[in-house]
Amino acid sequence: MIYLPKYTGPRLALQSKIGEGPKAVVLRLSADYVVKLRKTGWPIPSVQDDSAVTYALSSECDLLRELHRRKISVPKPLGAYRVPIQTLDFPWPLPKTFFNERMFPGLVMEHIPGIFIEQAPIEKQTELERRALEEVSKAIIIGLNHLQEGFDPAKNAMWVPETDRVYVVGWDFLLPSFRKSPQGVLRD
Ligand SMILES: Nc1ncnc2c1ncn2[C@@H]1O[C@H](COP(=O)(O)OP(=O)(O)O)[C@@H](O)[C@H]1O
Ligand SMILES: [Mg+2]
Repeated sequence: MIYLPKYTGPRLALQSKIGEGPKAVVLRLSADYVVKLRKTGWPIPSVQDDSAVTYALSSECDLLRELHRRKISVPKPLGAYRVPIQTLDFPWPLPKTFFNERMFPGLVMEHIPGIFIEQAPIEKQTELERRALEEVSKAIIIGLNHLQEGFDPAKNAMWVPETDRVYVVGWDFLLPSFRKSPQGVLRD
């Protein structure tokens, strides 16, 4: 079992959902940070808390750190923690805990105040998609030996109009090879 420290940083009273993908639910944790939790739909929709999920989230955190260090446009990770969560936006594993605070393994990262490319002005969309794919290509060039096949720019890239910056938020498609060898897949 991987040990995760408890998150003790700033926290809103209620963590509202700001995003959801096939594997994760993303909640607003504080003014600056979001927390990504792993979810399952089976046997009932719930947030997951086991050693495989803890491992997956801390691998994803390591991956984000490496990408951020190498100046690829990603949310800056704060760390993988056990995070006290209080939300009405997602069913918990047990009904009796529905309104109670509970601790879950989570990846805490910078909040990207962005929108999906499909919400950007139509004439900018092709360029924004190209820029998102370019960030993924950079990761592959530095030695994350994976193809960008699994990457869907529609839901995994965000554009911040104020700064005109494109971030790639969802890197889970790179994780299987990364997990096998966190050092081995990265060249200097
Ligand atoms: N750092 C972030 N800031 C703002 N929104 C985010 C951030 N990370 C993820 N999201 C939102 O949460 C959604 C799901 O996250 P993602 O990592 O793609 O989950 P999954 O692994 O299930 O695909 C994204 O589509 C995006 O809308
Ligand atoms: Mg995704």
